[in-house]
Amino acid sequence: MRFEGQVALVTGGGSGIGAATARRLASEGARVGVADIRPAAAFQVASAIGPAAYALTCDVADENSTAAAVAELVEHFGRLDVVHSNAAALGREVFGRDAGLLDLDVEVWDRTMAVNVRGAMLVVKHAVPHMTNGGAIVITSSVSGLVGDADHAAYGTSKAAVNGLVRYVATMYGDRGIRCNAVAPALVMTDTARTAMGPERLAEKAAERVLPWPATPEDVAALVAFLASGEARCVTGQTVVIDCGTTAHRPEHAVRSWRDATR
Ligand SMILES: NC(=O)c1ccc[n+]([C@@H]2O[C@H](COP(=O)([O-])OP(=O)(O)OC[C@H]3O[C@@H](n4cnc5c(N)ncnc54)[C@H](O)[C@@H]3O)[C@@H](O)[C@H]2O)c1
Repeated sequence: MRFEGQVALVTGGGSGIGAATARRLASEGARVGVADIRPAAAFQVASAIGPAAYALTCDVADENSTAAAVAELVEHFGRLDVVHSNAAALGREVFGRDAGLLDLDVEVWDRTMAVNVRGAMLVVKHAVPHMTNGGAIVITSSVSGLVGDADHAAYGTSKAAVNGLVRYVATMYGDRGIRCNAVAPALVMTDTARTAMGPERLAEKAAERVLPWPATPEDVAALVAFLASGEARCVTGQTVVIDCGTTAHRPEHAVRSWRDATR
């Protein structure tokens, strides 16, 4: 019960990693605001948790919307201690069109930055003034912010910006007892990932890992909960990779694994 008496906000809480974090924090005693751009999804996750959860609707890219959601949560539960800024633009119309740079639609770039970077900044901007007892902020980044790839340059660049943002937030508000870290997953087996990836793509991802299993949303939620808890009271300004070893090795390892798997 590491979060007994505390109040948490999770953005993008309507599914995947955010929903798992909301459930995890609530299971450890927190009262949780589940915020999502999809009201029905936020409501469904909050209802399943019970009275310890409160559904909020917001578009994190929109300042008024984000400020109102944070204020509504503090009004409802009376305080704010933990923030998991996790929402990202992952839909087909943005992430799905984030391919090569040479013919990239600038609207794809702008919406990616608006949700993934401006959104994280706005959540921090409107949460910190309420975190009067100190607390912890965790932002969901990605290994795509640490390495290059043949597509998703907007997404990867936005996550690299998040890795920078956590260092600034940690530095600016450390004196208030507020810590700020990022978690950087590789593939996480959310419902979205499961339906979007065919067997061949999943096999390619398996060849990139050194562990036999991929991460689940609950694995990431466990790391978020650790970073948000007092057990991590000396950890701040860090991007913690949770990728089953995907970025731990030389590229040859993946080539060899893929060859072995398809032989
Ligand atoms: N699943 C993976 O493999 C993976 C890997 C690395 C990083 N991530 C990161 O994890 C985070 C969560 O993603 P997920 O995999 O759980 O995906 P998901 O699609 O299950 O969840 C994302 C949630 O964010 C919400 N959302 C989207 N735009 C929003 C906005 N503007 N305002 C508020 N809410 C919004 C969506 O409605 C959705 O419920 C993201 O930051 C993503 O970049 C995921």
